[in-house]
Amino acid sequence: MEKLLIEGGKPLKGDVRISGAKNAVLPILAATLLAEGPMRVANVPHLQDVTTTMELLGRMGVSLTIDEHMNIEIDTSTIEEFFAHYEVVKTMRASILVLGPLLARFGKAEVSLPGGCAIGSRPVNLHLRGLEAMGADIEVKGGYIHASCDRLKGAHLVMDNVTVTGTENLMMAASLAEGTSVIENAAREPEVTDLANCLIAMGANIEGAGTDTITVHGVKELKGCQYSVLADRIETGTFLVAAAITGGHIKLKDTQPQILESVLQKLDRAGASITSGHDWIEIDMHNRRPKSINLRTAPYPAFPTDMQAQFTALNAVAEGSCTITESVFENRFMHVQEMQRMGANIKVEGNTAIVTGVEQLKAAPVMATDLRASASLILAGLVAEGQTVVDRIYHIDRGYECIEEKLVQLGANIRRVPH
Ligand code: EPU
Repeated sequence: MEKLLIEGGKPLKGDVRISGAKNAVLPILAATLLAEGPMRVANVPHLQDVTTTMELLGRMGVSLTIDEHMNIEIDTSTIEEFFAHYEVVKTMRASILVLGPLLARFGKAEVSLPGGCAIGSRPVNLHLRGLEAMGADIEVKGGYIHASCDRLKGAHLVMDNVTVTGTENLMMAASLAEGTSVIENAAREPEVTDLANCLIAMGANIEGAGTDTITVHGVKELKGCQYSVLADRIETGTFLVAAAITGGHIKLKDTQPQILESVLQKLDRAGASITSGHDWIEIDMHNRRPKSINLRTAPYPAFPTDMQAQFTALNAVAEGSCTITESVFENRFMHVQEMQRMGANIKVEGNTAIVTGVEQLKAAPVMATDLRASASLILAGLVAEGQTVVDRIYHIDRGYECIEEKLVQLGANIRRVPH
């Protein structure tokens, strides 16, 4: 199994380009199942989760071609099966995103039920309840969701919880339903808006994406289009923390500061100087130690759960003490035990971590448990004294494009070894 070796202590310097967003490209690739004509998706990040989604669609008979710039052309006219196998779904929960489109366009779908995962139980009850309200017959048996319908019908859906992929699944299904659907308490994440923009480019009639009430007037048919994926705000945030934690000074290009407000505000309070333009952000930490910052995760536009682990690393070396409350997922502090092995002073009480910054983390062998936890251990390794070895890095390849190449470009001492 591959590992990353990191020699800590170098302030990061230079420019880096941000890739397309994982959590935008996955629903957009699922949405291509709704299109009558060929789709062309650009700014696709080179990620394991993208490969998995292509495999998922490929196994259904969908034709996919990819060029050297990671533009993907998708033609669903060759589809033969409406089936998402457990073998694929178990490696990527976002596979559930094919359920709404398959049902809406083809009237049937069989999708493996995603299991729990390292960060919590992650049910899909709200996806299923919404589709049922739109007229789908759903039965869960043998670990699979068996769904069928005549044409879906518009419905008034009030979501019990803010769910990102739930909102996306229902918005995609509603696009081809008969009549109008209203999704209340919808997720407002920028990736939901990006999917809505893609669906609109395909001919969908959607209002209110980016607010908590999305109205979808169903249309009879969606066509293929060309769409370029939004920049990854979590990759952006991770690199910003990499600069902040090392006292560095970097510029991020091809990103969107407007969708990172909560993260930029926290970094400002941690002592970073931040400047930004339309599609770039520059951060300068002036070789200083960061200051502790309290945070609480919640759905967008509040502080993202996908940045919690990275900020735990930042606080672990900051001046002062703080509390970090995780309110989205029940078990998202798996990185804490690994950071404690590097000398971090962190106590977890329920869904809150109390972090007292130490002056210096010490390198240790550590193990990644999920995608964002892996990122946080790399960040800790960038400031630790000595050589940190991060194991199980297949998690990182699911969601960060060329992370070690990008960090090397910024002057970090990091390399991948086979085992
Ligand atoms: N929930 C339910 N029932 C449902 C769906 C969700 O109770 O039917 C609960 C979940 O258990 C959780 C909360 O609602 O407590 C929010 O979960 P959500 O459904 O929003 O998560 P998700 O859609 O499965 C997406 C991202 C995650 C990100 C979360 C929260 C994608 C592909 N994944 O997951 O990204 O953490 O939203 O913002 O968009 C990551 O990139 O590392 C990652 C985990």
